[in-house]
Amino acid sequence: MDVASLFHFYGLLNFQSSIDNLQWIMVILGIETSCDETAAAVVKEGATIAASVVASQIEVHHRYGGVVPELASRKHIEAIVPVVDETLNKADLFLRDIHAIAVTRGPGLVGALLVGFAFAKACAYALEIPWVGVNHLEGHINSVFLEPDPPSFPFVALLVSGGHTSVYHVTSHIMVELMGQTRDDAAGEAFDKVAKMLDLGYPGGGIIDRISRAGDPARIKFPRTYLDKSGFDFSFSGIKTAVNRYIMNHKDHIKNQIPDILAGFQEAVIDVLCYKAIRAAMQKGCSSIALVGGVAANSRLRQKLRSDARHKGIDVHIPSLHLCGDNAAMIAAVGYHYLKAGIVSDLQDDVFSRNPLPR
Ligand code: KG4
Ligand code: ZN
Repeated sequence: MDVASLFHFYGLLNFQSSIDNLQWIMVILGIETSCDETAAAVVKEGATIAASVVASQIEVHHRYGGVVPELASRKHIEAIVPVVDETLNKADLFLRDIHAIAVTRGPGLVGALLVGFAFAKACAYALEIPWVGVNHLEGHINSVFLEPDPPSFPFVALLVSGGHTSVYHVTSHIMVELMGQTRDDAAGEAFDKVAKMLDLGYPGGGIIDRISRAGDPARIKFPRTYLDKSGFDFSFSGIKTAVNRYIMNHKDHIKNQIPDILAGFQEAVIDVLCYKAIRAAMQKGCSSIALVGGVAANSRLRQKLRSDARHKGIDVHIPSLHLCGDNAAMIAAVGYHYLKAGIVSDLQDDVFSRNPLPR
């Protein structure tokens, strides 16, 4: 079903003219609750953010050093209505101005996903508008299209977050081929676990990024795990163990070494990420790489990928910091392209904890 028939089906278009002649702007409400952020956003035509609100649960999970799924679900239930209200207020819109809803269907924590998914279902049912459950990872990849200078297709996407580390060949907004992924920890998870070993707080990525600036990345050399150098899979559990071993062996005078340990660890992770992303782009003949996901906020990774790629004639697209971590604008952005392709969800649909999701 194309977008015109889709909206006729829902009774939203009473126009005589074809969709091409319409000066009509599709307004989508995005909802994201896959992990520890309750987020909503209003996005126009899949590219312009009218409002985006992210309520973080960091305070709740901080003391446990990681996300507690049951607490996350409860917090989403408390936050979802106020967050959507705040988003609509900021966009200066009412619910009746929304044409469609896009919501994260997975992967993620099932209890957390269900809160946003049930909310979206109920809202769309009451408003009699289309809605679609989307893949969170495709959302991250589409975050670069919310910036003024997006990449052209095809490109390679390096997705680095707390739950995923993968390389994709992207041929359209929703045609995404997995080239390789982590076999154990995600890059963000390794950052979080190393920060936890040193009692630095949660989430560890931003903290390590900051402290590393005062360290020497070359003083302590941690292993680079390339696995098969011609493949695109990752492994970060070895480096995490190497950091742990170093800490145990230098227990008595660890404090003043922390910046060097973190800088050395960060550099080892980043070397592997940059090598694989650039190799993937070269193998696919792509002249652009999109760096997305929470770890894309890392200042050293942003800088190194840009400079390494420049030497190979590849340009790098990285979203602004507020679009790297989980947000609902990226969910609305990819939802727009699902709807344009005629993909909608119905009341029987359910959430999924793991990739790949059915479509
Ligand atoms: O994409 P995201 O918000 O949630 C998931 O879908 O996982 O990513 C969260 C991850 C966390 O592991 C966090 O430590 C990491 O992103 N992160 C960073 C930085 N900021 C957040 N990692 C490295 N450097 C940063 N500046
Ligand atoms: Zn994410």
